[in-house]
Amino acid sequence: MVDLAVSGLSRSFWHREAEIPAVKEANLRCRAGDFVGIVGKSGCGKTTLLKLIAGLEKPDAGELKLSGPAGESPRLGVMFQDPRLLPWLTVEQNLRLAFPAKRRPQDTADLHRNLDLVGLGAWKDAFPRSLSGGMAQRAALARTLCRKPHLLLLDEPFSALDAFTRKQLREELGEIWKSLGMTVILVTHDIEEAVYLSDQVIHMRNGAIHAAIPIGLPRPRDCREPAFQERCRALEQLPWGAGRVSAS
Ligand SMILES: Nc1ncnc2c1ncn2[C@@H]1O[C@H](COP(=O)(O)OP(=O)(O)OP(=O)(O)O)[C@@H](O)[C@H]1O
Ligand SMILES: [Mg+2]
Repeated sequence: MVDLAVSGLSRSFWHREAEIPAVKEANLRCRAGDFVGIVGKSGCGKTTLLKLIAGLEKPDAGELKLSGPAGESPRLGVMFQDPRLLPWLTVEQNLRLAFPAKRRPQDTADLHRNLDLVGLGAWKDAFPRSLSGGMAQRAALARTLCRKPHLLLLDEPFSALDAFTRKQLREELGEIWKSLGMTVILVTHDIEEAVYLSDQVIHMRNGAIHAAIPIGLPRPRDCREPAFQERCRALEQLPWGAGRVSAS
């Protein structure tokens, strides 16, 4: 588990000589073991914020502090919308790439445990072409778990899936989070998904963190409960703004 503190984090890009402030003075506190959802209109800066946290983008300003469990440097796992499996390798071979080059005796056992965790134990010898979209996402999640992340960063991991598979995977993700005790940050366009999984949901608008809504409902959550629907409405009613897709 990892404790995360982000203060005044900013990152701009330039497009046709115009500055695009993708993330503007973001402040975020995420305690070890928290599940945090991030929602907001397309182009509001969600992926950029996630990349800054992952160290895949450098901030122009601000500070980011990650503290891992005592004595360990924090390990991060990142998963994007596209499962990014190598088509010429089997599921097991794809997962092996997540481990350090020097093999350790427990790697194979960890790999098989993670495949079982996502329900793909019987598919280790399959090639990605014979997996459905949901199965490929599960394999990508298992690959990320092989890094034993303290902090798992997920960018719309289920957005390409049908509503039924998506619901199933979000329940599985909730179970995995509970059993492995990681800190998770999930970017999603699906408010129900965010409310179902998160301790707090961050709402971004035009690059800024605009609101942080604590969910505070017992788990497992029932989407039909009035309190659940009330949290969804609270998020829907926030000012979502125009996003930035049309910037020219
Ligand atoms: N590498 C880049 N170069 C130039 N502009 C970028 C780059 N990455 C992001 N941007 C711009 O920064 C803004 C925020 O992009 P970002 O990808 O963070 O949005 P998002 O909230 O993740 O959107 P979506 O929901 O569509 O994925 C957008 O206006 C985008 O065009
Ligand atoms: Mg994005």
